[in-house]
Amino acid sequence: MIDVTLESVSKRFARTGDTAAVDDVDIAIGAGEFFTLLGPSGCGKTTTLRMVAGFYFPTSGRIRFGAEDVTRRPPNKRDTGMVFQNYALFPHMSVAQNVAYGLKIRKVRRDESRRRVAEALEQVHLGGYAERRIDELSGGQQQRVALARALVIRPRTLLLDEPLSNLDAKLREETRVEIRRIQREAGITSIYVTHDQAEAMAMSDRIAVMESGRVQQIGTPQEIYHRPANTFVARFIGRSNVLTLPVVGATADTVTVTLPGGGQTTVPAPTDHGLTVGGTALVSIRPEHIGLGAATEAGALSARVTDLEFTGMATHLTVDLAGEAVMVAAVDVPAGLAVGDQIGLRLPANRMWVVRP
Ligand SMILES: Nc1ncnc2c1ncn2[C@@H]1O[C@H](COP(=O)(O)OP(=O)(O)OP(=O)(O)O)[C@@H](O)[C@H]1O
Ligand SMILES: [Mg+2]
Repeated sequence: MIDVTLESVSKRFARTGDTAAVDDVDIAIGAGEFFTLLGPSGCGKTTTLRMVAGFYFPTSGRIRFGAEDVTRRPPNKRDTGMVFQNYALFPHMSVAQNVAYGLKIRKVRRDESRRRVAEALEQVHLGGYAERRIDELSGGQQQRVALARALVIRPRTLLLDEPLSNLDAKLREETRVEIRRIQREAGITSIYVTHDQAEAMAMSDRIAVMESGRVQQIGTPQEIYHRPANTFVARFIGRSNVLTLPVVGATADTVTVTLPGGGQTTVPAPTDHGLTVGGTALVSIRPEHIGLGAATEAGALSARVTDLEFTGMATHLTVDLAGEAVMVAAVDVPAGLAVGDQIGLRLPANRMWVVRP
């Protein structure tokens, strides 16, 4: 069942004139889904979320909750809970007073309110902190208060704008697991905004990758990782090599290309690839999917190591493959491998994928 729908939604701000902050966005989010808007700074994530919350109205397009058109409905009539990047808590009030705020506005009876506040604080594992002042809490605890405050009103939709950005790396990872647990338990449709691709991959049912106000691709983390729609998505999600290769054959869903340094390979491609013999294809392959062997290995492509970095988990190499710089990540490298050495590369065809420009 679709819960939140954005139909051709655009937003132009009067002051910035012609360029759309959000440009013709179509998104359909399922009930109970954890959906993430991911993209670089300024791509329109917050603007999109604020239109769902009702803090901005779209310049054109529609927003629906279920069958209801809420495009021009004010925020307090939308039944959404929002968690902001900077928490927006009241520092002089207690944890319980902060969490109770939305209930007070909604004129929920005092005993009912007390019960729900206690329940929400339990949910975020802050049961013993009700009477603490906000300025006596750590950043991670404040973040959980902000989450409890959004959850306590039992919104139909939970909206989270970079809620972890003020936390250190370890706390970010812990808190993202917590957010996901709470969201699953409550079964609440959630829209999450982040510019951190690893966070998006780890948390989301599906992701919309945005750039310059436009949705570049919508899919599961696996789809976006293994089948990026274009070079932007391929490079933004993890690291990826994108090789420009001559096309020597094409079918509905494959393209045969000539590899740098010789040989041909047939690569899976989206059915609308539109490529023909004589043209060039953009072919992506992840650094960790490239195999390493001896330069003399049969079928391997000969390359020269130009950079080599040991990170503990893997060795990151840059190699020169017939004039193209290619990134390789390998758990094991031949003993004594050094910059300047010749090495053999294996590019498995099923790990390659044709992307649009
Ligand atoms: N109130 C506003 N008035 C004019 N322009 C705005 C306004 N809010 C945002 N913009 C512009 O709209 C574009 C999208 O901004 P938005 O805040 O949605 O980006 P974002 O993806 O959330 O970025 P970040 O990751 O930095 O938070 C930017 O170019 C921004 O400058
Ligand atoms: Mg933002």
